[in-house]
Amino acid sequence: MVVKILKDYNELSKKAAEKAAGYIKAFPDTLVCFAAGNTPLGMFRELVKMHEQGEIDLASMWYVGLDEWMGLGIDDEGSCVKVMYDAIYRHIPKERVCMFDGLNEDADKQCREMEILIASHGGIGFALLGVGMNGHIGFNEPGTPDIEGCFTVALDDVTKSVSKKYFGKERPVTTGITIGWRTLYKAHNVVLMSSGKEKAPIIKAALDGPRTPDITASLFQNHNNITIMLDEDSASLLQR
Ligand code: F6R
Repeated sequence: MVVKILKDYNELSKKAAEKAAGYIKAFPDTLVCFAAGNTPLGMFRELVKMHEQGEIDLASMWYVGLDEWMGLGIDDEGSCVKVMYDAIYRHIPKERVCMFDGLNEDADKQCREMEILIASHGGIGFALLGVGMNGHIGFNEPGTPDIEGCFTVALDDVTKSVSKKYFGKERPVTTGITIGWRTLYKAHNVVLMSSGKEKAPIIKAALDGPRTPDITASLFQNHNNITIMLDEDSASLLQR
């Protein structure tokens, strides 16, 4: 586990973008899984800049969405699909992007199709993950079982409460659909990002504490090719 501590959010975004760009240049036509959420937005801006300047070709990759709020679609503020299209996927041909559809109630079918798609690419090549306030990765909430593939999940109270920051209004979200942690863990390259002081306690628990399914981020401690990228605020409680 390589841990990189960057001065602030800007530096974190730039370094994470450089890391993703290095992967994109080295392994075109492989499968990328980017988390939504607020943390990677600066990194996406950097990647789009590089794409527009011709330094990388975002359209040379294939993409899967990590997760989605059930009941929300592309017209809903804060849905993962809207966040991701606005931030990055509008620069990529539609046929290269597959995201869960929170408005399609046949979640099992979506999960099986996503699993088949991931397998058809030989697994995820590059996964960029964020960490929730409860230590979740995607919607792998505390206590998620160790099963392969994709599934729906009852959202944890912490996730429900934090979700308001994305929606601009109260939304009664109860269920998420996600790629499971075991499938993410099999990604060849993983970057896990965190920014901000409010995440410092959970980052400490995830990195300095034991591996536990109660904090799914901690399960990645022994991944064989993971870079943890933190700003100084998020890293402030870590043992150095
Ligand atoms: C989003 C996702 C979530 C977030 C996490 C952190 O697709 O998978 O696990 O990465 O909740 O969210 P932010 O970055 O908004 O703090």
